This record gives sequence, structure tokens and C-alpha cells, in this order.
Amino acid sequence: MKSLIWKSEFNTGNEAIDSQHKRLVELFNKLYESIENKVDKEEIISYLNGFDSYANFHFQIEEEKLKRLPENVYITHKKEHDKFKTITHNVKNEIFNKGKHSSLFEMVLYLNDWILNHITHEDIRHLKNDE
Ligand SMILES: [Fe+2]
Ligand SMILES: [Fe+2]
Repeated sequence: MKSLIWKSEFNTGNEAIDSQHKRLVELFNKLYESIENKVDKEEIISYLNGFDSYANFHFQIEEEKLKRLPENVYITHKKEHDKFKTITHNVKNEIFNKGKHSSLFEMVLYLNDWILNHITHEDIRHLKNDE
């Protein structure tokens, strides 16, 4: 896997959301590189925490906007964000408990797919050109 590259297809048209997504991709890449370079466990954890807390900040902003949409849309979208939170939580446990790199790669690969799918499907559909 290579680092995530920002593409124009990721744009929702909402400037704030788009710049947050760009930042999220940057932070993901830092995390990915730290795992690839097999740096210390503590260092990986610090990248993971940075990525995780920025993602949570971003989800809160999106969820505020999504409250204006029908409830089922809001709930489904929020569930996706919650799924992401579960994955990052599991990654943290994996690092703390086992410190294994092999399973970490699998999880990070999953996070990579989640970001791509979520932005290009859910976020673009629900937040496109939203003010
Ligand atoms: Fe998003
Ligand atoms: Fe989202």
C-alpha cells in the first residue's frame, strides 16, 4: 500500500469539510509511515492518537451538519463514524497488548479503505455543497 493521495474526486464542495478531510489524510499518512518504518510503539501510538482525535473533532462537525437531514440519514452516517471509532480503538488495543506489526498493517489497510469509501460515498452524498 502507498500513502493516501488527495484527489479532486474527494471534494464535497464544502471548504471546511474538504480541508478537514485533507488534514485527516495527512495524519493518516503519518500514522501509516510510522508503522511501515517500524518506529517505536510509543511513537506509533502518538500518531494514532493525533489521527484519532482529529477524526473525532471532524465527525462532530459533520454530525452537527447532518442533524439538518432526515433522521435515518443522520443515524446511518453516524453509525459509520462509530464504526471508525471502534476500529481505531481496536488498533490501539492491538498495539498495547501485542505490539505486532503484521496485524497492524491489516487494520491500517482497513482504515485506508474506510476513509476512501466514506468520503467518496457518504460524505459527498450528504455534505456536498452544504454551507
Ligand atoms: Fe468526513
Ligand atoms: Fe462522515
